[in-house]
Amino acid sequence: MNNPTLRVMISDAEIDKRIHELGEKITEDYKDGDLVLVGILKGAFIFVADLARAINRPVRLDFMGISSYGKGKTTSGEVKVTKDLDASIEGANVIIVEDIVDTGVTLSYLIGQLHNRKPRSIRIAALLDKPDRRLRPVQVSYTGFTIPDEFVVGYGLDYAEDYRGLKDICILSDGAT
Ligand code: IMP
Ligand code: MG
Repeated sequence: MNNPTLRVMISDAEIDKRIHELGEKITEDYKDGDLVLVGILKGAFIFVADLARAINRPVRLDFMGISSYGKGKTTSGEVKVTKDLDASIEGANVIIVEDIVDTGVTLSYLIGQLHNRKPRSIRIAALLDKPDRRLRPVQVSYTGFTIPDEFVVGYGLDYAEDYRGLKDICILSDGAT
């Protein structure tokens, strides 16, 4: 990228407010049983940390590493598991916690994999949803924000591993275009 520019799309205060709303909803929806949040690495690491603290009931945490993007801005279409869950999810209520749903390729693959492990239920929480680019249908139960087709970074999301530590979600564009 020749001349990268960042423009705030969603501020940290807006993110914080929305995550508390999602946390309240999840608290209401899961009154009993084990609840496991499965954070998808690396992009969801900040979201899952904030969401876990916004849920007012016990949760367990586990992580899966998935790579489908390579170093660019578009998916390679190939999903690779780079880290599997540490514990069984059999009989548990599972919420897959993802940073952003774009084509839906990653999540539709993951849902299939996790269904085989016989959880009691599986739902998806995604901080961001870019529905314009969907190739595979995925049902997201808890969406933070629906956004237009822009490439965004910050709050865990990266471009070639940079920008994950930004507090706000920002549009990354090439200043030349
Ligand atoms: P999908 O399989 O196309 O839905 O890809 C989802 C994954 O692509 C996300 O977990 C992100 O890692 C990455 N991704 C998609 N859109 C963006 C973006 O705008 N910024 C950063 N990463 C993105
Ligand atoms: Mg990701």
